[in-house]
Amino acid sequence: MILKKIELTNFRNYGRLDIEVGPSVNVIYGNNAQGKTNIIEAISVGSSVISHRTSKDKEMIKFGENEYIINLYCHDEVYGSDVELQAGYYTEKSVFNNRKTPGRQLFHDGMEISKISRYMGVCNTVIFAPEDLNIVKGQPASRRKYLNLLICKVSPSYYDILGKTRRIIDQKNACLKSFKGRFDKSRENELDYWDFSLADLSSELIMERFRYCELISRRAAAHHSVISDGKENLKIEYSTITGSEAVIRGILDGDGIFDQFIAGTLPEAILAQIKTSLSDYILNKLRSERFNDIERGIYGNGVHRDDIDISLNGLSMRQYSSQGQQRSAALALKLAELEIIRDKTKSSPILLLDDVFSELDEGRRVSLLSGISTAQIFITCTDRSFVENELSSIVTSNVDTRFFRVESGTVFPE
Ligand SMILES: Nc1ncnc2c1ncn2[C@@H]1O[C@H](COP(=O)(O)OP(=O)(O)O)[C@@H](O)[C@H]1O
Ligand SMILES: [Mg+2]
Repeated sequence: MILKKIELTNFRNYGRLDIEVGPSVNVIYGNNAQGKTNIIEAISVGSSVISHRTSKDKEMIKFGENEYIINLYCHDEVYGSDVELQAGYYTEKSVFNNRKTPGRQLFHDGMEISKISRYMGVCNTVIFAPEDLNIVKGQPASRRKYLNLLICKVSPSYYDILGKTRRIIDQKNACLKSFKGRFDKSRENELDYWDFSLADLSSELIMERFRYCELISRRAAAHHSVISDGKENLKIEYSTITGSEAVIRGILDGDGIFDQFIAGTLPEAILAQIKTSLSDYILNKLRSERFNDIERGIYGNGVHRDDIDISLNGLSMRQYSSQGQQRSAALALKLAELEIIRDKTKSSPILLLDDVFSELDEGRRVSLLSGISTAQIFITCTDRSFVENELSSIVTSNVDTRFFRVESGTVFPE
């Protein structure tokens, strides 16, 4: 998918923005705090709904306004058709909001889309931003966000499972709280009900997360090895409800079937067998931990606590790595994301490079640029000439590079 035109209404510091962009490299430059990242964020939210900077939609509404609206006009090279996407968020005061509550509205070719999962994945973007460092050094939530968003982009129904799981966990927590720390036999049925649903949904999430962590691990390790001249061995391991992984591995213990599972080509019957075993295992686990949960009034050990262990030469990166190593690992993880999306969707996602040139040293820039030369790219930077020099290594003279200068919420195409 190629982006042709971006229209913004009341998004961050843009009251109104309407720009036509080029099919290959688009350089957005200007001084700090002028609105460069805001454009990158808008493209990312317009395509995948989730912002890399905030989880609060309201924050993205221009100060003093009541809605933001992002329109992306795209072209699908595979089908030769034009695609229009619109993502907006409206407060209860917005004149465009005919409901009484604040909320999001999404449109695909003018048709309202009620499920985010049906909107995501139409136009894929991958963003490289300074915040990527949080995947390596931040809290588990940053790693879950990275993993979840990656899976959503290639398998949108995953988003629905994620949403259902969150709702059930909330309900289970409300139920546990109402026990007030004391076991009450007469109310155990309700917990049974939530646990049954949770076991079912958790097993689906775990199977997907396990699979994608393995895919990420293989690709990220290869990239990291190149970036570090073969000196460092990056390892990504999925961490979830204890024992779950052993259940999956136990069933996949045969010639080549582990790789089929990872590639997504495992026969349905074996997948169903894994799902049943895992779901039974988790249900037992939930029951065995029930008294603990009742005592504490909160559901402790579940997929909402999942994490990814990232290690370098066997040492946990969060504790034992330098800033430079963390940057390399974050870059390797993002390049892995890019390749996985490209492989699964058979088309290159749009790349959004926010301030990465100033963050990365020469070697890492070369690694990044060599992985992305065929995609449509948006790059932000403060200095136009710096990017021009950098790009000369990947951009041949016949590639159409467009420059946009940004000055306090106004964009000047050059
Ligand atoms: N909701 C908002 N409404 C209006 N302005 C905003 C909003 N959020 C951020 N801004 C402004 O956007 C500017 C920062 O834009 P950003 O794209 O991050 O800058 P940069 O060009 O450095 O990437 C700041 O001036 C900030 O005040
Ligand atoms: Mg910025």
